[in-house]
Amino acid sequence: MRSLVAGDGSVLSLAVKVPRERGEEVRQRLRGLGLLRMDLKPLSEGPSLLLPVRDGARDALLGYPFTTAEFDAQEGKPASYQELAQVPDELRALLPTSFDVVGDLIVVKLEPGLLPHAAEVGRALLAAHKGARGVLLDEGVQGTYRIRALRTIAGEPRTRTEHREHGLRLDVDLAKAYFSPRLASEHARVAEQVRQGEVVLDLFAGVGPFALLIAKHGKAQRVYAVDLNADAVEAIQRNAQRNKVEERVQAVLADADEFARSVQGRCDRVIMNLPHGADQHWEQALGAGKPRAVVHYHRIIERAQVDAHVRGLVERAALAGWRVTERERRVVRDYSPAQSHYAVDFEAMRDG
Ligand SMILES: C[S@@+](CC[C@H](N)C(=O)[O-])C[C@H]1O[C@@H](n2cnc3c(N)ncnc32)[C@H](O)[C@@H]1O
Repeated sequence: MRSLVAGDGSVLSLAVKVPRERGEEVRQRLRGLGLLRMDLKPLSEGPSLLLPVRDGARDALLGYPFTTAEFDAQEGKPASYQELAQVPDELRALLPTSFDVVGDLIVVKLEPGLLPHAAEVGRALLAAHKGARGVLLDEGVQGTYRIRALRTIAGEPRTRTEHREHGLRLDVDLAKAYFSPRLASEHARVAEQVRQGEVVLDLFAGVGPFALLIAKHGKAQRVYAVDLNADAVEAIQRNAQRNKVEERVQAVLADADEFARSVQGRCDRVIMNLPHGADQHWEQALGAGKPRAVVHYHRIIERAQVDAHVRGLVERAALAGWRVTERERRVVRDYSPAQSHYAVDFEAMRDG
């Protein structure tokens, strides 16, 4: 984004317009992604806030309007954590430019060269982010339950926090069940498509952000939120109560395929957020659908192979008696130099 300095010293910048009550939540998210312009002061506009952002924010924040506005420079702006971190000069280039903010915890990945300085990086992150109480080193997601290996490097030694997303209050324990704030736009994108009276099946629900947001929007008649991890299912139940949607959300501790069989032919919409293996559950997920249903499919795929992957799913569906049409394809995030996490929406119609 080019910055144009207006005659009065104000600066023209891309901006996102958010309702005031969502301001802090969105600000934290943008800041964690390195997309908030810290050098400019946010503006009030009636019931909304205009947050100055970098170009990449358009992909990270779906559902909020973007505009261009004039901002005043932030006087005495808080130092970035990179400025505060005392690490050897030759390691400075390794300091990460993005990290996740989950509730009052910061989760950061470090290059091996920085690991001996992890405590110092943590200290600097805490010092630069008022509101953060602990910093966790992310040592990767593992196993069937997709749980993150975490180690406290600064602040309070805990992994449990309350995270706010689209007005939901989510009680998450990052050491017990999968959660990523980077899926926030995807949760909203799917929830906005749900129509009055739908039965929705979230097959790999984690702590329930898709299911709970759909229930909160109030249109779905019933939302099944299924996970194999007992801690995730407990979290869904707690979060359903916390967000007063327990009457519409049924948290289910089960294997996705088994549960899909038990609700065969009854669901309007099926969410398959298992990026390392959704394809292994494809026919079972289709089977849970009504004669006409929508499937939200998430998979990490080689970018060069994505068309072939989608074609393969359509062919497998045809063999199982479904006519499947791709409706929308979106990159949720890049996963590796050659792979991206894709969200593909399909419309499925049962033959005959
Ligand atoms: C990527 S996480 C889901 C994230 C969640 N949908 C969200 O948006 O935060 C995948 C989840 O699938 C669950 N899982 C893995 N295999 C499963 C299976 N066969 N049946 C049900 N759940 C499964 C894991 O325990 C994990 O919580």
